[in-house]
Amino acid sequence: MSSLHECRLTGGYDWPLARLLAIVTAIGLTPASVAEANPSSVADPAVWPAVASPFAPSAEIEARIDRLLARMSVEEKVGQTIMADVASIKPSDLAAYPLGAILNGGDSSPRGFEQAPLSEWLSAADAFYTASRARRGTAIPIIWGTDAVHGHNRVRGATIFPHNIALGATHDPDLMRRIGTATAEEVIVTGQDWTFAPTLAVAQNARWGRTYESYSADPALVATYAPAIIEGLQGSVGPGFLGDGRILATAKHFIGDGGTVDGQDQGDTRVSQADLRDIHGAPYGPAIQAGVQTVMVSYSSWNGQKMHGNASLITEVLKGRLAFDGIVVGDWNGHVQLPGCSKSDCPTAFNAGIDMLMAPDAWKELFVNMVRQVNSGEISKTRLDEAVRRILRVKLRYGLFIKPKPSERPGAGDYGLLGSTAHRNLAREAVRKSLVLLKNDGAILPLPANAKVLVAGGAADDIGAQCGGWTLSWQGSSGHNSDFPNGESIFGGIRNAVEDAGGTVALSSDGSFVERPDVAVVVIGEQPYAETKGDIRDLSYSRAHSESLPLLDRLKRQEIPVVTVFLSGRPLWTTPEIDHSNAFVAAWLPGSEGAGIADLIFRPGDGTVANDFAGRLPFAWPRSPTASAESQPLFPLGFGLRYARPHPAQNVDE
Ligand code: BGC
Ligand code: BGC
Repeated sequence: MSSLHECRLTGGYDWPLARLLAIVTAIGLTPASVAEANPSSVADPAVWPAVASPFAPSAEIEARIDRLLARMSVEEKVGQTIMADVASIKPSDLAAYPLGAILNGGDSSPRGFEQAPLSEWLSAADAFYTASRARRGTAIPIIWGTDAVHGHNRVRGATIFPHNIALGATHDPDLMRRIGTATAEEVIVTGQDWTFAPTLAVAQNARWGRTYESYSADPALVATYAPAIIEGLQGSVGPGFLGDGRILATAKHFIGDGGTVDGQDQGDTRVSQADLRDIHGAPYGPAIQAGVQTVMVSYSSWNGQKMHGNASLITEVLKGRLAFDGIVVGDWNGHVQLPGCSKSDCPTAFNAGIDMLMAPDAWKELFVNMVRQVNSGEISKTRLDEAVRRILRVKLRYGLFIKPKPSERPGAGDYGLLGSTAHRNLAREAVRKSLVLLKNDGAILPLPANAKVLVAGGAADDIGAQCGGWTLSWQGSSGHNSDFPNGESIFGGIRNAVEDAGGTVALSSDGSFVERPDVAVVVIGEQPYAETKGDIRDLSYSRAHSESLPLLDRLKRQEIPVVTVFLSGRPLWTTPEIDHSNAFVAAWLPGSEGAGIADLIFRPGDGTVANDFAGRLPFAWPRSPTASAESQPLFPLGFGLRYARPHPAQNVDE
């Protein structure tokens, strides 16, 4: 194309800047469009906003770290920089391999259980902690991380909050703070220290299988949520920060995870530096200012380079310009994807600035290789000390050296806190605030609760489907309500509301009935998925779920009014389903408290309205299956009907 392009090919980089700018001006390109024409994966820290660290330098902590570093062997230091998965390590391994952290992956649970009993989680936490403290040499206590991404979702009985996309619809940062606090309380019950949350992705393409982990496509909304959820989990910087009842949080996935081409999971985010900063980077400054202690690097690439190797973004931007002084952690074997790297060998990722590599299964070989690389100078002692300093700084701020073992910390072993009434009420409030009313023809909603109600659709009585991925297992699953001793299905909530008001309820997944109902509430939607498995080719709901439309159509032809409750981890093209419904509610992935749906769609017998809709779309709703960044969505971002304001035109809030 342009002569500029050619001049680069012929050695344009050597040209004086003034001359380049003259050419740029002559051919009418601005410097920003030059960056687009020649995408670079090297960031310039000077164009990122300078963030002031919320932590005053603590001479006491740094001196303590100096003393520890002076005593630690290379092996002890390398150990701190590695995290193993609990399924692949035993407490006794820590004697020879003094690792800094363990995690349980989405499918891992202690001692090889598929779903460990609660007491096993806590006793495993004690065993690892005790082993880390008991070793000879400089004993640094270990921390345990878990993906508590919508409540303490890996363990049975926990409160499952709506996924992030639903929380985005509430536009309520204070709710995030309360959810963070409740989640931390539940995690402490089973002895973990750290959650790999919040996800701060600003998803730009709903084909991405992780769209539901993103609060919104709107960077400003994600930026206001980041500090709130982080302060809920960790406490606010100042007295009480990381005190009793608090855990470590993670801002993830740095950076650009939500911007990949075609929404491909772990793909390439091809955007200018300005867009990377202003869209995907928007939440990171606020997260750091709120004191987030760890940042997880993204599997994705920026302009063709894997983030796990991007020193300019990790070291210069994140640690330098954004003043992040905590731990930069890698993703699950994320370093493997760098050129020349394997699970057990990747100095490039560490040298790019990742302080702790997540090496779930190959941690032992990685340890051996890293010790060798430090001794050979491939990894410098300075870089090693810098990483270990950050890890120790976080552990000291967290008070780990003075905390008792996990089971003796306040709240530990208090299994009644999992799914406590207070937490479930909070989750139900979140469900109420997150539902978005997209259609309400003839003001059919709110329904009289004393009616004859048919509840139909495959997802009506399925708590697993309500919860989506990252629930009990990595991918989540549907069809097992007994796995949720502290949960209620959408049908369960409707039954209680209707029967209390003197109405009748029938459940039939295919919509058949004996006695003709006054109204049908049809619950349909996506089946659970996580990460890459959730990527889709286009946004058509019915292509993958051909059973829903015939069900709606049968009811419509029998002239039964239909209220559709739609469960999904993203906005989908549902025009046929909307056309076949009198009312249509986007319910996202509401989690364990299905009763929140009945709270909104029914009115008590006395005719008053108990709760109005408050949710507004955190993502635009598509007008066609292929649309991604549409100029004319069916419903724009911010849209949501209210009972009090039934006209669509009144319902886009700024
Ligand atoms: C995900 C992370 C998660 C990690 C540990 C990875 O596959 O990308 O979000 O924290 O696994 O489960
Ligand atoms: C783990 C997840 C992890 C994923 C990465 C799964 O086996 O359970 O935690 O995120 O692998 O591919």
